[in-house]
This record gives sequence, structure tokens and C-alpha cells, in this order.
Amino acid sequence: MMAKPDTPNSSFLDIVENLCALNGKLETIVESSTNGIAEIDIYGRILAWNPSFQKLFGINHANTDKDFIFDYIPVGDDLSAEMLPKLYEKQTVVLRDVLLEGADMKDRKLLEVKLVPLDISPRIDFIVIIKDKSDILTALHNRELFIKALLDLIEDIKVDNRKTIYNLASLVELRDTTTGEHLKRVEAFTHRLARGYYETFGERDHWVTEEYVEDIGVSAVLHDIGKIGISDSILMKPDKLTPCEMDAMKQHTYIAGRALEKHQGKKDFLSLGREIAMTHHEKWNGKGYPKQLAGTDIPLSGRIVALCDTYDAITHDRPYKNALSHREACEIIKGERGESFDPEIVDVFLEVEKDFERINEEMR
Ligand SMILES: [Fe+2]
Ligand SMILES: [Fe+2]
Repeated sequence: MMAKPDTPNSSFLDIVENLCALNGKLETIVESSTNGIAEIDIYGRILAWNPSFQKLFGINHANTDKDFIFDYIPVGDDLSAEMLPKLYEKQTVVLRDVLLEGADMKDRKLLEVKLVPLDISPRIDFIVIIKDKSDILTALHNRELFIKALLDLIEDIKVDNRKTIYNLASLVELRDTTTGEHLKRVEAFTHRLARGYYETFGERDHWVTEEYVEDIGVSAVLHDIGKIGISDSILMKPDKLTPCEMDAMKQHTYIAGRALEKHQGKKDFLSLGREIAMTHHEKWNGKGYPKQLAGTDIPLSGRIVALCDTYDAITHDRPYKNALSHREACEIIKGERGESFDPEIVDVFLEVEKDFERINEEMR
């Protein structure tokens, strides 16, 4: 077969033909993609979108004339209409997770948004690619329902309280054995610290009784019960969590709170467990979660377990960090006096810290 003469004209036509064919293929890929894809200009105006984008946001009109990308995705620190010219100039790709609240837990959406600047087109300035990661949230919702059903069952059969708490806590242990060992140590630390508090402040705080000291230690094992609702990919991730994964992880306080809602305000063992589960990540300075409570607005049980939980986390290996020594843990906790932790509780801890070291050794 003779080779085609390589004239400038035929070469140009070949290029145009190839580009048209490539354009057609690209269009097919974009149209059939399960990711939402939109083309936008430098002002954030939507120029075109694919069917998945429309489906994702429930859009039922055909033309994009009046649509603006920030009508669909919320602005953030790294992404807003004002920032688009700068992002274009520097050809910066933005990748972020976005949580869209819904009327109900099951209506919420978790989206991964990627904004890619293009410097090849006179009209289209960015491509926005949106991946739906809502299955993480669905799993969360389903597990929450599971805990609720389980609690109802336990209440129906009215088993021994202490045994119930351990059964509940072991649900977390089933998914992550290190959490199970962590729970037993946190129980022992909490018991010791609560006793120290009772001996120091019992005369002043009359409601802190021998019985309270006994109860708080047992109920402390429930502090992470909400983790049963966190997906394995987040709970067992060996690396640092992304901000969005961290938000999902923080939900463990609410999950426990909602699951144990019936016990709110009651004088039963599960109500103290609920209080601890909901407040063990609050900080004395108001910078904790989930409600940013500060000072004595945080129940005493939450303030005590917060310190014990942190001490244990510092002195043991975690998938993302190595253990530090008892001495280093004491220094860190001292440094957080009046910041993360109640100053009085830190003082009590420093009185009994030798016992923490001993408990740690015995339970290793
Ligand atoms: Fe926790
Ligand atoms: Fe914990």
C-alpha cells in the first residue's frame, strides 16, 4: 500500500478530523459519566452540565442560563465566586468535600467537589467534577437505627445493668480490638480520677457521692459507643483524617446521644453513659465538639472522661501515631490546664498520676 502524500492540506484536515473525533468521544464520556460535570466561566456561571449533575441536584429545567455554580455548592475558605479569577490565573485545582444538609439524616449528601481550571478554551474557564460519596452517610444512618433497635431489645429483656453496659461497649470492640482495650483502661482511669475528685471536693460538691464514683467508672465504657455508627474506612484509616472524614467521626457523639435519647434526664445507668458519650470531646475553653460547651456547662462526668480518654490516647499507639511516655502525657495534660481540661481536674490528676502509670502498666 502506498503512503498518502504528506501535503500541508491533508495534514491539517487530518488534525481537524482527529480533533472532531476526539471531541465526540469526550462528549460521550462526559454525558455518560456517573460523576456530575459542569463547565463554568470565570464568574461561576454554568455554561453546560451533564445528566448526572442535574440528577445530583434535582435540576429539572434544561437550560443553564440563569444558573450559578454556587447555587448548588456552598462557598468555602478555598472556593468562592471572588476567588475564581485568582484560581484561574494561578491554574489552581481545588478539591474539597462538601456536606449538604437535608431535612432528614437520610436526605443529607456528601459530595467531593473538584474544580479544574482550563487554559485551552476562550469560553469555558473551569470544569467542575462532583462525586457523590453519600453512601458514607447512609451507612451512618443505618447503624444509628441498628443501635436504637438494640437498645430497645435490651430494655425489653431487662438484663443486669452492668452486663448491659459491657455488652453495648463490646459492640465497638467487635469492630476494632484496640478500642476494646482502650475502654477497659478508660474505665479504670475514670474510676480513679473520680475517686480523687470525691476525696478532694466531695464536701463542697455534695452530689458527688460514693455511688457516683462507682457509676461513672462503669458508664465511661460507653463513651465511644457512637463509633459503631462510623464507617470502617474512617474508623480504621491508618492516616490522618481529612476535614470531612473528621466531621463524620465527630458524629459519634451525636449518634450515641440520639441512640440513648430515651434515657435523657432519667436516673439510670444509661443516662450517665449518654452524658459522657455526648460531652467527652468538649473542652474547658469552649473549643471542643459537638456543642462547644465551656467550663462547668460541661457535665463533670464529661470533664473527667475527657482527661482519661486523652491520657490513654497519648500513652498508646494509634494507627496514625506512636505512644508517648507517662511523663510526656503528664506534661501535655498540665499544658492543657484551663484549655482543654478543667483546672481542678488536672490538679486532682497530678495528685493521682502515679496510679494512672500503674494502671497502664498492669493493663498492658
Ligand atoms: Fe470519642
Ligand atoms: Fe475514646
